[in-house]
Amino acid sequence: MVLKEVYNPHTESAFDQYKTEHASSIADPESYWGQKALENLDWFSPFDAVLQGSFTDGSVAWFVNGKMNACYNAVDRHVDTKGSQVALLWEGDEPGDTKSYTYTQLLARVCQIANAMKAEGVKKGDVVTVYLPMMPEVTMVMLACARIGAVHSVIFAGFSADAIAERIAASQSKWVFTSDEGLRGGKRLPLKNICDNAMNKEICINVVSKCFVFERTGGKCNWSDSRDVKFGALADSQRPYCPCETMDSEDNLFILYTSGSTGRPKGVVHTVGGYCLYAMETCKNSFGLKDGDVFACVADAGWITGHSYIVYGPLLNGVTSFMFESTPMYPDEGRYWDCVERHKINVFYTAPTAIRSLMRFGDTAPNKYDLSSLRVLGTVGEPINPEAWRWYYEVVGREKCSVVDTYWQTETGGHVITNYPGVTPMKPGSCTLPCFGIEAVVLDSQTGKEIEGNDVEGVLAIKQPWPGVTRTCLGDHERYLNVYMKPYPGYYFPGDGCRRDKDGYIWITGRVDDVLNVSGHRIGTAEVESALVAHPSVSQAAVIGFPHDIKGQGICCYCTLTYGHEESEDLVKELRNAVRVAIGPFATPDLIVPTPSLPMTRSGKIMRRILRKIAAGETDTLGDVGTLGDPSVVQKLIDKVETLQ
Ligand code: WTA
Repeated sequence: MVLKEVYNPHTESAFDQYKTEHASSIADPESYWGQKALENLDWFSPFDAVLQGSFTDGSVAWFVNGKMNACYNAVDRHVDTKGSQVALLWEGDEPGDTKSYTYTQLLARVCQIANAMKAEGVKKGDVVTVYLPMMPEVTMVMLACARIGAVHSVIFAGFSADAIAERIAASQSKWVFTSDEGLRGGKRLPLKNICDNAMNKEICINVVSKCFVFERTGGKCNWSDSRDVKFGALADSQRPYCPCETMDSEDNLFILYTSGSTGRPKGVVHTVGGYCLYAMETCKNSFGLKDGDVFACVADAGWITGHSYIVYGPLLNGVTSFMFESTPMYPDEGRYWDCVERHKINVFYTAPTAIRSLMRFGDTAPNKYDLSSLRVLGTVGEPINPEAWRWYYEVVGREKCSVVDTYWQTETGGHVITNYPGVTPMKPGSCTLPCFGIEAVVLDSQTGKEIEGNDVEGVLAIKQPWPGVTRTCLGDHERYLNVYMKPYPGYYFPGDGCRRDKDGYIWITGRVDDVLNVSGHRIGTAEVESALVAHPSVSQAAVIGFPHDIKGQGICCYCTLTYGHEESEDLVKELRNAVRVAIGPFATPDLIVPTPSLPMTRSGKIMRRILRKIAAGETDTLGDVGTLGDPSVVQKLIDKVETLQ
């Protein structure tokens, strides 16, 4: 079947309405967002000004002086009208192992957790590290933090002890949540022990006061009576009412560490008012939410997608949020569709990498299940290739659902470019048009000038502040300015290249910096390189991404060895492991290429462009290698990579 360029399950009038609303949202953002904030959020006391500050000096603030509480807005205010409606619907690792919490029940449990935290000494403004598996408690702890004004710093449960320690130390986090173990795909993960290894590291000594441990499997784990608290039991003994802290709109709601092109991960900071409004509005618009919807975002709560579209977005909108502990392949490749049928899921949101890996098994699994409840299918994390888009649309969506391709990042708080279901004509592979309030422009990467017109290519930038934009990097505002605000003064720079096609649609062409996107996970090449050179056998490392059928990008590491170290299978294994230990198993290199030298310019700069081409097998378009100090290294690397792949 030939792929159509444009899919049209929308009405022209809805599309026209989008264009009008979008135009007015960027013509007068203050009245647009001011009105949305009053209509959609409950304020304890109103704001004095909608917007203050600018990108130019990195001083953006929204809903100035407004007082509110994120947990109140996500939970309490629904209890009167929707108290008996399910707020959280959880499916555990084993099919059919489910739990559900109504809004009334969720409120009571969040309050108990909040009271237990207070009883242990957690205070407003404290950073609380959350290293939990996908159990309902991860959502509850995030909400409990928001309730008492503590700042959650959730760490994806695939990160290693080194990575956790680094984040605990950087945020000086006194409190750490974890569970005895995690459970995924039938495998147990020793989360508490990993956490212990982190907390016992030198950089964390005297930082962590208490470790709050939930029971997930009942499995054995290390225990320190002075530090560890059986938190489930402590919460059980608490009063199920806890008053909400009054928060300023610009108080910190959470930190989320994410990779940049250089240096250590940065703590991206989001604040209460703007983030809540933006997560709520994008969730409603991008997925066309309706009252009573069962909304399933199958990401992990440890990434921004989980924050905005498992926890805050759906609950702020008062729908049912589905949480999934397992993997798409457990016990078989029909698991997602089994969940859709049993829980009558209306909106399903996942990453292209998952779609590609399921597509390999053919249509049998999705065809076996009743998927008629589905209305909207979403993707996030990387550009979706048209073949995968078509499979999602035709086989999963039975050509009846909209597929929304949502482009955004940790720093944007919520979607910034996406089609709206039933509104925007779809083009497979394009994230289409900007969200309300987003003025997306294409810049010439060299001059920084806006490129007008269609059928053009450059870097993506956003012209004026929106409520969900990150306000700072924890403890390092300078870095915030340098990374996002200074590259193109007056604009927010997300770090992605893009093309605007003949119809004005945006196509993301990928990162223009040294950030990799592996199975939708963001990994900095600098972090992988520093893990490799920390090994005594490696003197220099250059890490680059290469096209990978399932993961989108694979990780290729070129390493020069120090004198006296020989290349061997064992050494390659050790290096692979060094990366797993420093970051986590999801960052495991696909290819390690030991080499006597790397292609360098005469001035000693590693030619990454050439390394990328070699790993991608595009050796006939290497371009000019004449500027290299030693051009013969290129052929040696080509031969080597061929034997390894
Ligand atoms: C990429 C994940 C193309 C992009 C929400 C961005 C995408 C980075 C898309 C952010 C998409 C995300 N199409 N590329 N629909 N969504 N990206 O912070 O390169 O983990 O900058 O946030 O993922 O990754 P992050």
